[in-house]
Amino acid sequence: MICIPITASTTDEAIRDMKKGAEIADILELRIDYIRDLDIAKLIKEKSKPVIVTPRSQKEGGRFKGSEEERAGLLREAVRLGAEYIDIEFSTDERLRKGVIEESRGTKVIVSYHNFTETPSDIKELYDDIAISGGDIIKIVTFANSINDNLVIFDLIKGHEKRKDIISFCMGRHGEISRILSPIIGGYLTFGSLEEGKESASGQIPARVLKSVYRVDRLGQEINIYGLVGNPVSESMGYLIHNLAFAELDLDNIYLPFLVEDINSFMTGFKGLFKGLSVTMPFKEEVIDLLDGIDKKAEDIGAVNTVVVKDDKLVGYNTDCSGAIMALEDRTEIKGKNAVMIGAGGVARAIGFGVKGRGGILTITDIDTDKAISLSKDIGCKYCNPDELGNISMDIFINTTPVGMYPDVDRSPVPDSLLKEGMIVFDAVYNPIKTRLLKEAEAKGCITIPGVEMFINQGVAQFEMWTKREAPVDIMREIVLNKISA
Ligand SMILES: NC(=O)c1ccc[n+]([C@@H]2O[C@H](COP(=O)([O-])OP(=O)(O)OC[C@H]3O[C@@H](n4cnc5c(N)ncnc54)[C@H](OP(=O)(O)O)[C@@H]3O)[C@@H](O)[C@H]2O)c1
Repeated sequence: MICIPITASTTDEAIRDMKKGAEIADILELRIDYIRDLDIAKLIKEKSKPVIVTPRSQKEGGRFKGSEEERAGLLREAVRLGAEYIDIEFSTDERLRKGVIEESRGTKVIVSYHNFTETPSDIKELYDDIAISGGDIIKIVTFANSINDNLVIFDLIKGHEKRKDIISFCMGRHGEISRILSPIIGGYLTFGSLEEGKESASGQIPARVLKSVYRVDRLGQEINIYGLVGNPVSESMGYLIHNLAFAELDLDNIYLPFLVEDINSFMTGFKGLFKGLSVTMPFKEEVIDLLDGIDKKAEDIGAVNTVVVKDDKLVGYNTDCSGAIMALEDRTEIKGKNAVMIGAGGVARAIGFGVKGRGGILTITDIDTDKAISLSKDIGCKYCNPDELGNISMDIFINTTPVGMYPDVDRSPVPDSLLKEGMIVFDAVYNPIKTRLLKEAEAKGCITIPGVEMFINQGVAQFEMWTKREAPVDIMREIVLNKISA
């Protein structure tokens, strides 16, 4: 189930937010500690979905300033008014806590614990202590300092033997995956914000994303987990294209953002949990030593952006390369053509090996000549200085520098005098979709290829390797184009 916390500061505003929240949530949490002019009877009268009444104390991250007796009094009032749930902290004075629990009648009591600095490893003992203290549902929320802290919560949810219902996840940027997975693997509910800016805790994801992208209210425990490993991961569009494509084919798969600092401990801790990974910066090279096998092209390139689990073995691929080559070959044959590529970084490496492998006559240039020389040696092609570009015959021009990328959209990596009618111009930059380079190339009568084609192709290739199903390409393309233009 999805619960939306209502964090409005007045009763009337809270009622408006309750109406909006009820369209998405299964349950609403009334954070009455946020409300300055609290009218609890009015709030409960207006509910159209079950509510949790929570007067969160300051020591547990809330805003309630009154005494413990006053807090217990509000909870008793919520019971009397017919709230479906109340939340009382495990740290509340034992006598008051027991009194509230004894008088809870038909209202379910959530006994909660919050740790804002870490995820203690002895969390199961804490669960046992809370379980014997009474109440109906145990809530244990901790802070994730690394992605592996989520594993402690997953073990807790899966291993609590259903003695009592449990709500458990990690807060913070590293805890997002437990907010998504906990209701799927057996947790009672997860919290999602009404909208960005209305979160009640760090790392909270908008409820509409939990529902319509991650399908947390529909997926069951038998799911295949995929995800993006990188740092940062928040700007990636992968979670949208893969999750919505899984939904389109009605697959019980989910794609998660794995925000990782140490790829080694991630791969050790999460091995067996995932069926496939996308890999992004800064781990495309480092991941190779942690795999059981690697595709020949990815080995030549020296970078892996896709991991597929085959018979429990991790195998690495590079779909950046195949994605770019597909985009080029949709417009032209590469064999025998003079291709010039500007930029000698990671993307250049993937595309360069691809162009060379298809028989293109490749020249590389970069502002950093040493980098261009080094990459050209690895690939076995030529290099030149950027100011020599006018002397080189070009059938295909490829930009792999970030020049022209949002917000620097008025720049182009080369003067338009280099662009000639009939040339193929491929810009790896995909935001904006039509870069200045592509606009100028179009005006000169060139055939243009936007970077978004490469981006979609690499995602489609990952999807098809993981699922062995034909990807819903049109839907994936529409998602990417809508997201970039938004
Ligand atoms: N379409 C897709 O699927 C896709 C996927 C990933 C990335 N991209 C795009 O590709 C771009 C490059 O990514 P990357 O990972 O390869 O980045 P990278 O490793 O930083 O490589 C960029 C290279 O371009 C060089 N450079 C920068 N400005 C230049 C200029 N004016 N003239 C010549 N060389 C210049 C850089 O040199 P210095 O290091 O000296 O600055 C660097 O060697 C990204 O910015 C992104 O827009 C597209």
